[in-house]
Amino acid sequence: MTDDILHRAETTHTLRSAEIIHLLTLPDAVALFAAADRVRKKFVGDGVYLRALIEFSNYCKNNCLYCGIRAGNSHVHRYRLTPEEIVRTARQAVSYGYKTVVLQSGEDVWFDADKLCHIIREIKKLDVAVTLSIGEKTREEYAAYRTAGADRYLLRIETTDKMLYEKLDPGMRWDNRVRCLYDLKELGYEVGSGSLVGLPGQTMESLANDLLFFQKLPVDMAGIGPFIPHPQTPLAQEKTDGHFELALKMMAVMRLLLPDINIPATTAMETLHPQGRLVALQAGANVVMPNTTDTEFRPFYELYPGKICVGDNAAKCRGCVEQKINSIGRHVDPGKGFHGDYLKGK
Ligand code: 5AD
Ligand code: FES
Repeated sequence: MTDDILHRAETTHTLRSAEIIHLLTLPDAVALFAAADRVRKKFVGDGVYLRALIEFSNYCKNNCLYCGIRAGNSHVHRYRLTPEEIVRTARQAVSYGYKTVVLQSGEDVWFDADKLCHIIREIKKLDVAVTLSIGEKTREEYAAYRTAGADRYLLRIETTDKMLYEKLDPGMRWDNRVRCLYDLKELGYEVGSGSLVGLPGQTMESLANDLLFFQKLPVDMAGIGPFIPHPQTPLAQEKTDGHFELALKMMAVMRLLLPDINIPATTAMETLHPQGRLVALQAGANVVMPNTTDTEFRPFYELYPGKICVGDNAAKCRGCVEQKINSIGRHVDPGKGFHGDYLKGK
């Protein structure tokens, strides 16, 4: 039965919910990971795209129960880079050879559309792709960033279980998050989404729905991260048992369903497993997002405990990641890695 499902997934890239759940609950998923690795190789090749991550502010107006930088966590030392510091950090990332800069922050109202558009325009002068990961905004704001030159936007749905979402993200509406994703799509962004895996109360049915949701949109990129409880949040007592394996299976099934999208080997995976990103790259992933935030700010962007590279700098992470990628016979793809580039004969 497993062989049959995998064969169909690999050839037709369609599965029903019950079949996805079968794969997610496999006690031994070696065949699933191998299938995802084959599909990754066939559709996106052996190149790995690097995205330079800049965590430019940890101020956040939201209060998600799982997140370490939630507004209600009064222990967090809050920081915010100036627009000049953000552009300087981007310039440094470009000097290390990165072709995409990802600007990520909490939902920080200090950065209004004017400030963000200025930053985007300055970074676009460096001839790189700009990805934003700054949360829920109005359609007008998304349109303004796009006009300023932003190419991609990351906004994880976190979970497609609306009840669970609204319980874990108090004051936020699931429908608005979906609205954001469709607005971004319509405005011509490459859209990245994704889920947290292992949230308390999350069911296998809802995880299968997450994947079907990504397929329906469809997303151009999706990151799957294991949930890791943060001690200064209401979910401090939760466990991480099995989250890495389940997140890896989610990612592998996603590769089967969306064969040509960009899938990152997430930092949270490496937090739960010493070789987590390499394991992920061999089970469907084709993107790594090394941190390029200045070392002095890294300890404060603590979404979850044990985040890797907190004491490292941008140069170290750049070298480390390339060496790891090469160690498994893969290579850093020097291009910008827009979804669909490979179709143009890359
Ligand atoms: N564990 C793992 N990932 C987390 N994120 C937020 N909190 C946690 C946590 N405790 C993820 C969310 C968010 C991304 C930037 O970080 O999925 O979208
Ligand atoms: Fe930062 Fe390896 S990626 S030290």
